Amino acid sequence: MQPNPILSLLTLTLALTTTAQAQYTNQSAPFNLILQSPDSSINGDSLASCHEGAAIESLCLASATGISAVAYNFNTSAFSGDNGFLTYVLRGANFNESEPLTFFYNPASNVVLPLFEPSESAVSVGFDESDLMFVAAYYDDRTNPVNPAEQRYYRWYACSTYFEGYNYQTLAWVLGDTEPQNPTCIKTDVKRVFV
Ligand SMILES: *[C@@H]1O[C@H](CO)[C@@H](O)[C@H](O)[C@H]1NC(C)=O
Ligand SMILES: *[C@@H]1O[C@H](CO)[C@@H](O)[C@H](O)[C@H]1NC(C)=O
Ligand SMILES: *[C@@H]1O[C@H](CO)[C@@H](O)[C@H](O)[C@H]1NC(C)=O
Repeated sequence: MQPNPILSLLTLTLALTTTAQAQYTNQSAPFNLILQSPDSSINGDSLASCHEGAAIESLCLASATGISAVAYNFNTSAFSGDNGFLTYVLRGANFNESEPLTFFYNPASNVVLPLFEPSESAVSVGFDESDLMFVAAYYDDRTNPVNPAEQRYYRWYACSTYFEGYNYQTLAWVLGDTEPQNPTCIKTDVKRVFV
C-alpha cells in the first residue's frame, strides 16, 4: 500500500509541532511578577495563580485576592531567541505539572484572559532590558503595506475578569491599538523580579 501523502504530511507536522513544544526546557530561575502602574490601587501588587477550573489558573492580583505572590519561570528553547513561555508549576497531591501561559480569547471582547493550562498553544512572551514582560509581533497591520518589523507590545491591564463562573481581578491583555472595552481595566506594566 502506498503511504497516504496527506496523512504523512499531517504526521510530520504533528511530530514537528510536538518537538518544537518539547524543546522549551531551558528554564530560568524563579521570579515574582510585580505590577508597575500609575494607578496606586494596583501599583506594586504581585501576581499569583487563581483557580479557574481543573488545572486552569489565571494570574490574579495577590493582595487584592488576599493570597501570597507566586514564583514563575521563563522557559526558552535553543531557537526561541528572546521569546519563550511563562510557566507555572501546578502542585497536586501526587504530581507536579509545569503549565505554560496561554491566551483565552472571547470573540465578543478585545480583552484576552491569560491562563495557565496544559496546552500545546502557549503564548510567546519575552522580558526586555528593564525586565518588563512583552509580547512580540512580527508585523504591524496599521499601515498599508504592513510594516514587517518585529515590535514589542506591552498591552497588559489589571481587570475584573470572568471565566467559567469565577470572577477575580486578574492580568489581562488587550487586542489591538485601542482601549479595553471592559470598564474595570487599569493599565499596567508587568516586571520580573527574581526571588
Ligand atoms: C520548563 O522547563 C522545565 C525544565 O526543563 C521542564 O521540566 C518543564 O516541563 C518546562 N515547562 C514547559 C511548559 O514546557
Ligand atoms: C539557557 O538560557 C541561559 C540563560 O538565558 C543561556 O545562557 C544558555 O545558553 C541557554 N542554554 C541553552 C542550551 O539554550
Ligand atoms: C513537587 O515539587 C515539590 C517541590 O519541588 C516537591 O517537594 C514534591 O515532592 C514534588 N511532588 C511530586 C509528586 O513530585
